Amino acid sequence: MGRRQELEKRQMLLARFGRIIAVETRLDSLLTLIAEEVRRILDADRCSVFLIDDYKGELWTKVALGIGEKVLRIPLGRGIAGFVAKTGNAINIRDAYRDPRFNQDLDRITGYQTKNVLAVPLKGRDGKSLGVFEVLNKNKGSFNEEDEGFLRILATIAASFIENATLYEELRRSYLETIYRMALVAEFRDQEDTGKHLRRMSRFSGILAAGVGLSYQESEDIRYAAPLHDVGKVAIPDSILRKPGKLEPHEYEEMKRHTTYGSQMLARAESRLLRLAARIAIAHHESFDGNGYPHSLKGDLIPLEARIVAVADVFDALVSERVYKGAWKVTDARTYILEHSGKFFDPDVCRAFDTRFDEITSVMDEENRRAVPEDASRLMPPQHKPDHQPGHQTDHGQQTQPGV
Ligand SMILES: [Fe+2]
Ligand SMILES: [Fe+2]
Repeated sequence: MGRRQELEKRQMLLARFGRIIAVETRLDSLLTLIAEEVRRILDADRCSVFLIDDYKGELWTKVALGIGEKVLRIPLGRGIAGFVAKTGNAINIRDAYRDPRFNQDLDRITGYQTKNVLAVPLKGRDGKSLGVFEVLNKNKGSFNEEDEGFLRILATIAASFIENATLYEELRRSYLETIYRMALVAEFRDQEDTGKHLRRMSRFSGILAAGVGLSYQESEDIRYAAPLHDVGKVAIPDSILRKPGKLEPHEYEEMKRHTTYGSQMLARAESRLLRLAARIAIAHHESFDGNGYPHSLKGDLIPLEARIVAVADVFDALVSERVYKGAWKVTDARTYILEHSGKFFDPDVCRAFDTRFDEITSVMDEENRRAVPEDASRLMPPQHKPDHQPGHQTDHGQQTQPGV
């Protein structure tokens, strides 16, 4: 190819690169997309995008491992990427294993053999270092100066998109954390393992939503709104909420109002997620057969998001230890849910629960293994535990149904 055609081809690739990556706003997918495009444009075998985690003083990247992906972290200043991030200088190495700056750890983990490396810094709008672009093993020969110039241009284009996606992600995360903390506040006086319950039921809800065929975005929304299902409990007095014994009928009526209180707190919010949470709060104790509360809604009249959360919430309540009951075996809890398909629960959601059961239990195991520094349960005053009373009446209504 002549010089002129080569230039034209590169110009075309640049324009295409900008067009393609402009469409993606999710950081995760954006990084994968960028890496794949850059790899192709520079005719390299691999491309990694490393991002700086200021808080931890590390660089992180995602690498393909077997069929999955893994996040790898390296300290700033270590290895080629670490060096580039720290100094802001590009590096072009023809024989990686002979260069003292090259750190073989990543190769050892991934089983890959790096031969030549070209790495340039990724800089944000104000010149702040965001991370490093690294291409490995050029398919023919090694990287030249032209490749370096080209990678710098690609890095400049990619940087602004990465910066935007990062800011968006941070905003989303702090928003979600606020929602989660709000839910924690509401249930702080209630259960002893509130944090765990909320995280687990929230993830189960997301799995079930995807299982009934909702889109990724819809499932994510339900996942993040689900923890607020019991936010109305904040308005229930201690004398009822923390009563160790059986509730009197009038107390039980008050307890049931946590659904309407919750929806009053969340309704007419500007945020889509909070309005969704309001629909979940009001209807998560409705029963598919119309025997639930507060409005005795039946079947499809109950919002789908509430039918989903009901299964996730009850299942998690069953397998958790509560003041009024021991923790059920996972298999018993599964049978309970499936037996009440069409009664308490939507049959479609129960089917999704059945098909995705392995995913649900593995998420549960993962959450159980997790060390939880923010878990409010450790701050909770010890609660008087009465003797286990089977069928103890709870906020969930039916004498036989475990409370939530
Ligand atoms: Fe509830
Ligand atoms: Fe709950």
